[in-house]
Amino acid sequence: MRVNGLIALLTLGLAASICGAGVAAHTDDHPALPDGPGRDVMIRVCSQCHDPELAADQQFDKAGWKDLVDKMASKGANATEAEFDQIVTYLSTAFPVK
Ligand code: HEC
Repeated sequence: MRVNGLIALLTLGLAASICGAGVAAHTDDHPALPDGPGRDVMIRVCSQCHDPELAADQQFDKAGWKDLVDKMASKGANATEAEFDQIVTYLSTAFPVK
């Protein structure tokens, strides 16, 4: 068991270094989500229930994104206040009102 865990960790580390370039690591999985600070947190938190790219169909100002993120939190989205803040900032930059 312990050995398996270690191998899993090593594999993850290897995958992360192969993908390189930090924020760009998930670009291929979610091309609809532009790069930006908070993207990784958003993908992690917003993938708990559905494809995070659902957000790419919406445009809101910051207050609107906060409402939507609050709504997801009330459905059970699991993150800290700081992470929700980062997500709102990311979304309002990536998908602003046109
Ligand atoms: C606990 C489960 C859960 C998590 C986590 C979650 N959502 Fe949702 N989301 C839902 C459900 C269920 C729906 C289906 C529509 C509804 O019930 O309003 C939905 C629908 C949506 C929609 C479609 C528009 C709408 O208002 O229905 C968007 C956009 C969305 N989610 C964005 C997000 C974002 C951004 C995050 C991360 C902060 C997130 N979701 C995290 C459960 C979740």
